[in-house]
Parts: sequence; structure tokens; C-alpha cells
Amino acid sequence: MCARSPIALPSCVVAIEFPDGFLWGVATAAHQIEGGNWNSDWWEFEHAPSTPVVEPSGDACDSFHRYPDDIRLVKELGLGAYRFSIEWARIEPEDGFFSRSALDHYRRMLGCCHEHGVLPVVTFHHFTTPRWLAAQGGWENAATADRFARFCERAVAHLGDLIGMGCTINEPNVASTLGYLLGTFAPGKKDLGAWGRASATYIDAHRKAYQAIKAGPGDFPLGATVAMDDWWAPEGCEEKLAAVRHSYEDIFCEAARGDDYLGVQAYSRLRLDEQGLPTGPEEGVEVLDMGYEYWPRAVEVGIRRAAEVAQVPIFVTESGIGTRDDGQRIRYLTEVLEGVGRTLEDGIDVRGYFCWSLLDNFEWNHGYGPRFGIVAVDRETQARSLKPSASWLGKIARTNRLDV
Ligand code: NOJ
Repeated sequence: MCARSPIALPSCVVAIEFPDGFLWGVATAAHQIEGGNWNSDWWEFEHAPSTPVVEPSGDACDSFHRYPDDIRLVKELGLGAYRFSIEWARIEPEDGFFSRSALDHYRRMLGCCHEHGVLPVVTFHHFTTPRWLAAQGGWENAATADRFARFCERAVAHLGDLIGMGCTINEPNVASTLGYLLGTFAPGKKDLGAWGRASATYIDAHRKAYQAIKAGPGDFPLGATVAMDDWWAPEGCEEKLAAVRHSYEDIFCEAARGDDYLGVQAYSRLRLDEQGLPTGPEEGVEVLDMGYEYWPRAVEVGIRRAAEVAQVPIFVTESGIGTRDDGQRIRYLTEVLEGVGRTLEDGIDVRGYFCWSLLDNFEWNHGYGPRFGIVAVDRETQARSLKPSASWLGKIARTNRLDV
């Protein structure tokens, strides 16, 4: 037997076997890959004169048209699932007006996944909101929760029979914090009160959407995802840390109680100062293009915390690294998966892992700088080319094991 701490991997481990049925996939989001999402609040935000977004999304990866190639790639790599989002701004371009043709588009995408034997995992909201709804106060407006439930009801009525797994809202804690407190995401507000209102609406929207989707056709696992971090604060600031973590993470995990699962998405560590405010990376720790620390342990910490607070099965619905060095990506993902292995060994019910992302795509306010894809995209021609990490991940998925 190896003596081991919960974090350090024992030196005698040579492979991690994942449980039978463990789901391996890749994730994307509509605005980041489809292109031409001009009816959304993000498009407007990217083009505003004082925008903090370094470049607009434009044609993105043109996946709106190239999705058959992208889904074929997922299958050829040997991955079992594709997580993508349906775009509310296309499906409901005006208040109460639903586009049959947009819904049909997503129905074709779902059909394409099934043709390839790839499980389609549908996110109903991934950071973008129709312009008409943003004009009504967006997520600060409590009525947005009902609008979102109505959208989900219509979408699931058209698509539900083909959905393999569902996610109501992606990282509502990031959407509310970056959009309403830090101002780096749409709608660019920096207002403590707005942050509280937006967080409350997101939680209400998740609960209402959950009911609406469950009431529709299809019978698939449903949950939400939360952005989780490893947390650090100076000694003596434990209470501050707990308070900040509570309003940023815990309330969203608590809202997942009773759901079919909770999606954990973790990338790095969040360091706080004595005031409980985010501070920069620690000296000596590698810093990534996103400006945060190379910190693969965040996934393991996030899984443990999410499982403890939500008390539901966990999927890692996103995990990845924005880097131009694909060797660094493989190193990072290896360390992440070792951590996932430790949580499984400890009996935590983790059911799958989705790498972010399939493609080098539009990274929100950072534009096209950070490269999260296991597949590169030529920004001129849109040609896709596999990086070594793509076949590396595919092999893990096909064998359901990671050789360390
Ligand atoms: C989480 C978000 O869901 C996704 O949209 C983003 O691109 C990745 N994190 C990487 O930052």
C-alpha cells in the first residue's frame, strides 16, 4: 500500500482507471464558436465604444455552419459526449417571438450528434442574453427568471426528445460577478446591489427552468454548472474567505440540492487579501495567458467542495487551460485528472469529465488570445487542425484510463 495525502499522488501509481460508464466529452458555447451572434447583449457589448472586450467575436469559428465537421471530430477522437449551448438570442429574437428555423437548426445539431453516437449535452444559457431582454434590465430584473423559464419550455418542447443531458445555466456566479460587479462581462456594471440582484435572479431562473425542462419531453439528467476555485487568504482571514466564498460559490451549489447533478468548472486559485478582495498570483507560481495561476488542483478542490455543499452527483462540465503550449496543456490536464482520480478513490460520485474546449474560440473579454482548444482553428480560413492533446484525450476516453 502507498501512504498518501489527499492531494499528492503516490509515486507507485501507474494508471488511473475510471469507473465504467464514466462520460468523456468536450464543451463549447454558442457565442464563442458559432459566429454572427448579433442579436445578443454580448455582441452589443463587444462593439460599444468603451468596451473592455479586446476584440469582437465576429465570425468566431463559424460553427453555426461547420457543426457537422465539429461533431464528426468529437466522434473521431473517441469522445462520448459533446456539450454545446443553444442561443437564446437566435431562438427568441424578440420578446415572445420564437424562431422555428433557429429551433430546427439546433434539432439538426442534436440529430447529427446521435448519428455519430455522441451524447448531446445542451446548455440553455451560456453567458449571452437577447438584446430585448437586456433592454428590460437583464438579470437585475427579477422577471428575467420567468422569461428564461418560458424560453426553456419552448426549447425543450422542440428539442427535448433528442437531448442527452441538460444544463440550465452555465456559471451563473461568473455571469453575475463579472457582468454586474466587476464590469468585464456584459452588461459591464460595477455595482454591489446589482450583483446581489443578478445572483438572486440567476438562482430563481435555474429553479424555474429546471421545473419547465423536467415538465417537457425527454428524460435526461439535468443540472447547472458553477465556477469553483481553490481559495486562499492570509492567516487570520478565514471568516472573510468563508463569507466571500459563500456569496460567490456556495449559494449556487446550495441551489443545486435535489438536482440530478452539479457541474463543476474549475481553472485556478482565487487569492484574497486582508480585505477579502481578489489579489494577484503568488510570486513564483506560473501565470497563464488569462492572468491567473497555473493551478490544476482547483478541479479536485472544486469537486470536493461542490459535492459537500450540493450533495448531488458531480460532472466536471469544464476543465482546461488557455495556452499556446500544447505540452503544457497535456501536463495540466494530467494533473487535473489525477485529482479527479483521488476524488473517485475517496468515494465521491463523479460521473464524467468535459474538456474545455473543442476549439480555439472567442474567450469573452480576452478575445481570441487565450487558446483553450484541443483543436486549432485558422482565423483566416477556419480550417481545423488537431493538436497532440486531442488524440491524447481521445485515447484516455477510449480506454477509460490515464497512464501516469
Ligand atoms: C468557463 C466558461 O464557461 C467558458 O465560457 C470560458 O471560455 C472558460 N471558462 C474559459 O475561461
